[in-house]
Amino acid sequence: MKIIIISGSARPNRQSHKIALEVLKRLEPLENIQPALLDVREKPLPLLESIYRNHPNPTENMHHWKKEFDQADAFIIVSPEHNGSYSGALKNTLDHFFEEYNNKPMGIIAVSAGALGGTNAAMALQHFCLKVGGLLMPAFLITPKVQSLFDADGILIDESYSKRLDKFLHQFIEFSQRMNK
Ligand SMILES: Cc1cc2nc3c(=O)[nH]c(=O)nc-3n(C[C@H](O)[C@H](O)[C@H](O)COP(=O)(O)O)c2cc1C
Repeated sequence: MKIIIISGSARPNRQSHKIALEVLKRLEPLENIQPALLDVREKPLPLLESIYRNHPNPTENMHHWKKEFDQADAFIIVSPEHNGSYSGALKNTLDHFFEEYNNKPMGIIAVSAGALGGTNAAMALQHFCLKVGGLLMPAFLITPKVQSLFDADGILIDESYSKRLDKFLHQFIEFSQRMNK
């Protein structure tokens, strides 16, 4: 099962990317799971003019996202909370596609500097996932105070969050396997 992890902050010092990398690290050793990370900063798309399907002249990066999305069996979106929602860069990227999400399991991990862990971003993303016909896993993972979860070398040091992340990933894999049967 190919799981696409989408890293949703385009900021140079983004903290949520550390969570996306951690998700990749934890999925990589698992049998029958092929994770791949797609990053809105590393493969930026231009401001949306047309969805991929109707685009007269798709960029290289658009082709890249399309190819990966077509191969995806499931998606995990890792989003920062920016002003009470998910990032503009993430929405701009996701909006280039539509049928690519249809009937595919989608899981949400939200990340914030504050105590609420990106709950508002997660709830806004739920609407997106349902709107594009994804199979949304109802439970999402929030990540409060992300700046305190890692040490200076980028190692996740918060045991409690680490357990919650494992539990979420386990639950998402089970959900996706059931949905992909
Ligand atoms: C434009 C902007 C708006 C933000 N708004 C919120 C917010 O509404 N709630 C919150 O808890 N944190 C907010 N933050 C802090 C981010 O949650 C924090 O930077 C966190 O690390 C996740 O975003 P990042 O991956 O871009 O770093 C905001 C940050 C930026 C840059």
